[in-house]
Amino acid sequence: MIRALVFGRNGQLGRSLAMRSGDFAGVSLQLLDRNACDVLQPTSIARAIDLHRPDVIINATAYTAVDLAENNGELAQRINCDAVRVMADNAERQSVPLIHISTDYVFDGEGKTPYRETDRVSPLGVYGQTKLAGEEAVQEITERHLIFRTSWVYSPFGKNFVKTILRLLSVKNEISVVNDQQGCPTSSLDLAEAILRILPIVTRTGFAKFGTYHLVPDTQMTWCQFSCAIQSEATKLFGEKWPGADCQIQAVTSAQFPTMAKRPSYSVLSTTKFKANFGFGLPGFGHSLIEVLQNLAKGEDYA
Ligand SMILES: NC(=O)c1ccc[n+]([C@@H]2O[C@H](COP(=O)([O-])OP(=O)(O)OC[C@H]3O[C@@H](n4cnc5c(N)ncnc54)[C@H](OP(=O)(O)O)[C@@H]3O)[C@@H](O)[C@H]2O)c1
Repeated sequence: MIRALVFGRNGQLGRSLAMRSGDFAGVSLQLLDRNACDVLQPTSIARAIDLHRPDVIINATAYTAVDLAENNGELAQRINCDAVRVMADNAERQSVPLIHISTDYVFDGEGKTPYRETDRVSPLGVYGQTKLAGEEAVQEITERHLIFRTSWVYSPFGKNFVKTILRLLSVKNEISVVNDQQGCPTSSLDLAEAILRILPIVTRTGFAKFGTYHLVPDTQMTWCQFSCAIQSEATKLFGEKWPGADCQIQAVTSAQFPTMAKRPSYSVLSTTKFKANFGFGLPGFGHSLIEVLQNLAKGEDYA
């Protein structure tokens, strides 16, 4: 049995790991929420790792509020970098792998073809800068790491783009969504499944494929196209009488929709390296979106 210690129990990824773990009999997850371990307290991280003696550590915590980070740089740095540094120190001390999640927002979006892991990083905002600093801390401290850069994460849990758009579609006659930023929407259920699937491989003695990987589905789109896909699939699922079915989705530019943080206009990630090293990729976007909508349709409390 592989024992994995997960920091960040209540986030999208943490809850997705918990949901998917039932399919992986060989993995036992110990998920810690903020009460069990506040990652702002270095001793709390060390104590948790000493107590649970895991075979692998998964960091699902993060400061993910991209706009708020612009005015909360210190807190974002403490969660996205300083805490990660402590996890890496302790993973190294215990000789166990650390799986850490990062973001497409380490890129500035000037690229024209899917970003590879070796491409130049140049974050546009504080969130991306602190996530990059976290990556660098991990890389510096322990060779035994896997950094998975993912993007545009959605799920049945917490706050995310799919849930926001579903709500807006149901209460408005028209919504405006930016159509000049391209990325790869990623279901955290798929991300969780991929992580659980590789645990037996990465915890094996002699595993030699540590490093940084891009992990997203191979479908790129704009936020506006993503919104149209959500409306179309939700209408199929909930029926034509669903109030969101008739809402008009207007395409706008980023300039028409200013936000605190500047976002890359193109942050499509290439997954060639992950597929070559692990032999599989994430499922297609359509299937994953439907799965998340079906979970939401069950009407359980996924707040
Ligand atoms: N969301 C996206 O669109 C996106 C895109 C690209 C990459 N990523 C990366 O993917 C990973 C997972 O993201 P996500 O969407 O699952 O994030 P999320 O839903 O925002 O969850 C973040 C988790 O971090 C926890 N956390 C924050 N501060 C903490 C602290 N001081 N002590 C303990 N826990 C703390 C939160 O706890 P509480 O629940 O108690 O607040 C929450 O459970 C992150 O590394 C993120 O940077 C996300």
